[in-house]
Amino acid sequence: MGIWSKKSIAQLQQEDGHEHGLRRTLSGLNLVMLGVGAIIGAGIFVVTGTAAAQHAGPAIVLSFVLAGVGCLFAGLCYAEFAAMIPVAGSAYTYGYATMGELVAWLIGWDLMLEYLFASSAVAVGWSGYFTAFLRDHLHIHLPKELVNAPFDVAPGGHIPHATGAFINLPAVVLVGVMTLLLITGIRESARANNIIVFLKLAVVLLVIGFGAPHVEPANWTPFIPENTGTFGQFGWSGVFAGAGVIFFAYIGFDAVSTAAQETRNPQKDLPVGILGALGVCTLLYMLMSLVMTGLAPYNTLNVPEPVYVAISKAGPSLGWLGPIVSLGAIAGLASVVLVMLMGQARVFYAMSRDGLLPPFFGHVHPRFQTPHVASLITGGVAMAVAGLFPIGLLGELVSIGTLFAFIVVCSGVLVLRYRRPELHRPFRTPFVPLVPVLGILTCGSLMLGLGVPTWLRLVVWMGLGLAVYFGYGHKHSRVGHQAPAPAGPGGTR
Ligand code: ALA
Repeated sequence: MGIWSKKSIAQLQQEDGHEHGLRRTLSGLNLVMLGVGAIIGAGIFVVTGTAAAQHAGPAIVLSFVLAGVGCLFAGLCYAEFAAMIPVAGSAYTYGYATMGELVAWLIGWDLMLEYLFASSAVAVGWSGYFTAFLRDHLHIHLPKELVNAPFDVAPGGHIPHATGAFINLPAVVLVGVMTLLLITGIRESARANNIIVFLKLAVVLLVIGFGAPHVEPANWTPFIPENTGTFGQFGWSGVFAGAGVIFFAYIGFDAVSTAAQETRNPQKDLPVGILGALGVCTLLYMLMSLVMTGLAPYNTLNVPEPVYVAISKAGPSLGWLGPIVSLGAIAGLASVVLVMLMGQARVFYAMSRDGLLPPFFGHVHPRFQTPHVASLITGGVAMAVAGLFPIGLLGELVSIGTLFAFIVVCSGVLVLRYRRPELHRPFRTPFVPLVPVLGILTCGSLMLGLGVPTWLRLVVWMGLGLAVYFGYGHKHSRVGHQAPAPAGPGGTR
């Protein structure tokens, strides 16, 4: 059968959670919390500082607006799909329904950049705050060979060079612990996630609330530093490039849709979860980046723990906030890793159900009722990536991969409205075709803001994906061959 075969919407809608042994335990509020848990992380706590120092200066707040607008368009498109096809798999599943198997595979493969590599990137950001906390508050100095990536790339460079370090050990250990937490059950993970998300929100609000009175308006001048002559280094092109880089900070709201099969009332709860989480985070990011660049000159923020550095600049009166920020970042970033790992395991699960990945990816644990094999494989690969590569390289790769997936989702809404206008859509993207088209254009231009090396890495990654598809998935695909057989809780098919 062809690379263009599609899954019928009816078939997708029948692939209900019970058939596959996943429990429906999540409510709308859980989903907003899951989304915020996935979104607020290393992006605001780490990447904002780098992007302000290297690309946009105080105008990084405009980059956040630009990236937020792109996400809003994409989010409205995600919500239509997520409510209509509430099954595991996110953009991968939507692609299968609209553009056929090859495109679906490419998105599934691309989503590894978004979820798996993002979990590694955030774990690396976590390691920075964790190491600083041990150093500054407990006077424990970990050897630098064990807390840094052995590889790095020069800005704009292609080939990684050795740094002299061995491994980023704290990042590896974090991913391992989060993987075990996930395998033991979604209900417990969601509860732990809720507590951590509250803590993370509290820290962000404290930094905004107590930092604002200490802002030095002189730090905002010039608001858009003059371009250096190179595209992306300050000026308006810097705002643009900054938006591509900090796009990473928004990634995660679509992770909500990957939990569709574990949601009690997907038709109502999914749009609430996706759009609610996105709205809360956009507002917080704008305020947070204004406060950070107001507290400290933007060129001092190119450090692994910029929020901590920014409040230190406010002087001793904010000293009490330092350890709280560190602890909030440590707990908060860990929760992002958890959600990203969960999203990846469920995309693997969906791909294996369709025969595009080997059956063991779809095994469901008889007691915990979680896709434990997919989780273990995800965790293992994420540990290796987190241990070896720096956050800058991983973050840009994650951004470009996600932007690509968003473009496909926006296109999918257009295609399906045209081909299947009669389908019941519990949530309709407003102003079609305007919103999906604007989503495609905004995300496309943010991709253009990312550098040539990042594009090349994307091309290589997708080429690898094509090789795997024609080597395995194409031959084993179930769609178009036979109706998919449900995996029971015992899980082997
Ligand atoms: N949005 C997530 C973060 O910023 C990936 O950590």
